[in-house]
Amino acid sequence: MTVTSLRNLLLTVASLALATAGDIHRRMTHTALTAPMKLYPGEVANKYLRLEIPKGPISIVSFEADVVESDEDGNVVAVPLADAYLHHHVVFSDHKFYEREKNWWSPMKPKGANRGVSFGAGTESRGTRQAFPSPYRFTTVKGEDSLIANVHIINTRSMEARDAHKCLECPCSSEDRMLGGNDDNVTALFSAVVPRKGLENHCNSFLLAEDNTSCSPSAYFGGLYCCEDGEYCMDAFKDDVPDKPEKSTYHLRYTIEYEPVSRDTKPLYLAACCDATGDVDLPGNIEYDIPQCAPGGEDEDCVHVLETTQTLHGASSDAFGTGGSRSEEDKYVEVVYMVGHLHRGGISVALYLNDTELLCESLPTYGSGEPGEIGNEPGYINSMSSCTFDPPLVLRTTEKIRVVGKYNSSEPHQGVMSLFYIAVSDMPQEPGDVRSRTHGGSVLVAMAVGLALLAAILHWRRYDKRRQYDAVDTSINIEV
Ligand SMILES: *[C@@H]1O[C@H](CO)[C@@H](O)[C@H](O)[C@H]1NC(C)=O
Ligand SMILES: *[C@@H]1O[C@H](CO)[C@@H](O)[C@H](O)[C@H]1NC(C)=O
Ligand SMILES: *[C@@H]1O[C@H](CO)[C@@H](O)[C@H](O)[C@H]1NC(C)=O
Ligand SMILES: *[C@@H]1O[C@H](CO)[C@@H](O)[C@H](O)[C@H]1NC(C)=O
Repeated sequence: MTVTSLRNLLLTVASLALATAGDIHRRMTHTALTAPMKLYPGEVANKYLRLEIPKGPISIVSFEADVVESDEDGNVVAVPLADAYLHHHVVFSDHKFYEREKNWWSPMKPKGANRGVSFGAGTESRGTRQAFPSPYRFTTVKGEDSLIANVHIINTRSMEARDAHKCLECPCSSEDRMLGGNDDNVTALFSAVVPRKGLENHCNSFLLAEDNTSCSPSAYFGGLYCCEDGEYCMDAFKDDVPDKPEKSTYHLRYTIEYEPVSRDTKPLYLAACCDATGDVDLPGNIEYDIPQCAPGGEDEDCVHVLETTQTLHGASSDAFGTGGSRSEEDKYVEVVYMVGHLHRGGISVALYLNDTELLCESLPTYGSGEPGEIGNEPGYINSMSSCTFDPPLVLRTTEKIRVVGKYNSSEPHQGVMSLFYIAVSDMPQEPGDVRSRTHGGSVLVAMAVGLALLAAILHWRRYDKRRQYDAVDTSINIEV
């Protein structure tokens, strides 16, 4: 063998090795736009749109989204937050495979959706790429080729900043409520709106004790339920505008990074937690109203604090785990990723374990640039800080977690949120107590990893068995 041929052989071996490594870590990117949302100024879109994704099974490494439109030359460009206010977008799967998860609850998961994937966020989504550490991934099943996004956008283009900020809190208009002669005369929501809100109470005792206006249909004067698809955020924009203004055509642009599902992939799902408006017994009301701070009052520093206690497995009995039996609810899970969701005025939202140990504080970044400066817009939350746990945090699903949401109350706010998005993964349950919060190098851990691998293999075998791709069956009206 000559030196050259030896070198060639080595090169071949090296490139083969590289190719194999490349195969294992084949990471791809998929960017697409949703169907258009055409809106007059002041008009609200609250739509369920299909997100085409590469055919499953895939494992999703990261997700990001923002609102775009076409410019005069047909280029796709980002839309300033002051023009299209992204109230939220919430992503879920309606694949039949996840039907058993239909009743699981999670903040930002629409009722009736099968599986919350929920990369959901609002104006912060442009600056808050959600990425999961290896090998933790949101996975899809064989044949699954779409997700669904509930996209809520308010067209605030060409509005005065004051109006735009009022609009984005979704004040109830004459489309929702009979408006009395003066502002103090708050009459109840129209009977068509009441069922959307529901008569059942979802507020924790702190909010109830203070008669929070967001908690009952009779006092409700702004928020999600007055911001339905096709409504106008304020009457001023609905009624006889002299020159019929132009519609804007917006899309949600989304990018996923993904790779093939491997045996090591550990599937993520959403914890049934956390919402500062709920408690251990109630998942939460999602939104709440904040009165203006009063001089000399309790909240003189104008920081409104709402706090409560919840658990990862949530308030409803079969909200978590694989079926809802007691033993499954009280278990250890690996917590991989957390990010908070706040509205304008938000200061922070944080989770504490056992009252004192800070797990994650998610902080907003308000823009400080010029109006319309994409990614740095003044007056809006442009991003939220997140917490990634690598190695994961091991938590018991029944451990008490304190949720603390803080808002600046120098102005009153309605329909604000203090929510957490928490991605977790199942782990083999160890007998006895697990005190270590993260993995160490112990034999137990090695055993756990082995078991997890076995579980993952069995899991994927089961996924493989499902050859059939079932059509999406949903009561939700999906636009393609
Ligand atoms: C509110 O306004 C309605 C209709 O204008 C009136 O019938 C009602 O008495 C008023 N309620 C209060 C508490 O002022
Ligand atoms: C709830 O709303 C009521 C009425 O606006 C207000 O007085 C109270 O301070 C609010 N409470 C909380 C905790 O937000
Ligand atoms: C929680 O805190 C209490 C005292 O505040 C302590 O006794 C207990 O061991 C703590 N539990 C955990 C799980 O850290
Ligand atoms: C609340 O907002 C007001 C007005 O924008 C500002 O002056 C104040 O510093 C803020 N307070 C906090 C605690 O962020």
